[in-house]
Amino acid sequence: MPSSSRSAKDFFRPLAVGAPTPLTEIPARPSRAIHFFDPSNEKMASKIPAMVGTVDVLLGNLEDAIKADNKVAAREGLVRIARETADLGGQSGPTQLWTRINSLDSPWVLDDLTTLVPAIGDKLDVIMVPKVQGAEDIQYVDRLLAQLEAKAGLTRPILVHAILETARGVANVEEICGASPRMQGLSLGPADLAADRRMKTTRVGGGHPGYLVREDPPKNAAGEPDVNAERATYQQDLWHYTIARMVDACAMHGIYPYYGPFGDIADVVACEDQFRNAFLLGCVGTWSLHPRQIAIANRVFSPSVEDIRHARRVVAAMGDGTGAVMLDGKMEDDASLKQCLVMVRLAEELAAIDPGLKKQYDAIEVDA
Ligand code: GLV
Ligand code: MG
Repeated sequence: MPSSSRSAKDFFRPLAVGAPTPLTEIPARPSRAIHFFDPSNEKMASKIPAMVGTVDVLLGNLEDAIKADNKVAAREGLVRIARETADLGGQSGPTQLWTRINSLDSPWVLDDLTTLVPAIGDKLDVIMVPKVQGAEDIQYVDRLLAQLEAKAGLTRPILVHAILETARGVANVEEICGASPRMQGLSLGPADLAADRRMKTTRVGGGHPGYLVREDPPKNAAGEPDVNAERATYQQDLWHYTIARMVDACAMHGIYPYYGPFGDIADVVACEDQFRNAFLLGCVGTWSLHPRQIAIANRVFSPSVEDIRHARRVVAAMGDGTGAVMLDGKMEDDASLKQCLVMVRLAEELAAIDPGLKKQYDAIEVDA
């Protein structure tokens, strides 16, 4: 949100002379999986060209998981990969190029930004900023990027994505989302967030068997509650509250929420569940830490053929979009039409970049 000392009219003016004009809307580019790679790892880097077109976003990670000794190699590796990989990043390619820079209090971040923007600013779609605490962090990056973009002669603003991974960040989530027209979205950072909040899970994302509710006790022969009887328990979602807050803050500001890392690479089933919960709540994508998570994310964050068939039926039945109709014994009206349009529009965006999905959606026959 524009701060009180700034006129609303100034909000969409560049923050440096010669910098590109800020966007008034963040493009809805598909970003179901943001696949993390370590640009200092030769083996991983050599696989990047073949991944273009198979994943919506490739992200060169410079922050956590990159050893201090490899920070410079990672930064330089990313510059090389961006320059040498055809169709990666920029506005039109099938796969966006993002990076996660080091945190704003680290000794590396200034060199990250002053190296990357002049060298590959035309290919970098989004810069992910970790450990964002409040609007002031975004405003710092916003001005610096404008200066660097102006110097580099860039014509398109680089967008900014914040990781929500501190208690203060969560408390300030709305102001973070509204801090700059560059804001593209938010990801959950469950590992750092758990540590910062002093939560007692040591897992990276996902559930915890201790976080549960238990069925009421049955009565014993005397009609008293038998608390020691076998009772069903239901594991709850540790991250529900934070994701729900993120979704509202992002929707309010016209930007996009994402799940984050799911560290148990082997547990593809729980990973899929966690991603699907995020999708159902309003997230548009997630991180992928291993190629096998790309397929899960692409499946989960694409509306199913059944959902699209139903959504198109409602759209067809609702005519001018007002009033109410009965379909299969269920009431549909102006509001449920809007729910269906969310699905139909997402399917159109995804079909534009995913030929396999387009084929599935095109084959749907809608009977009245
Ligand atoms: C991600 O960065 C996390 O801390 O979970
Ligand atoms: Mg983190």
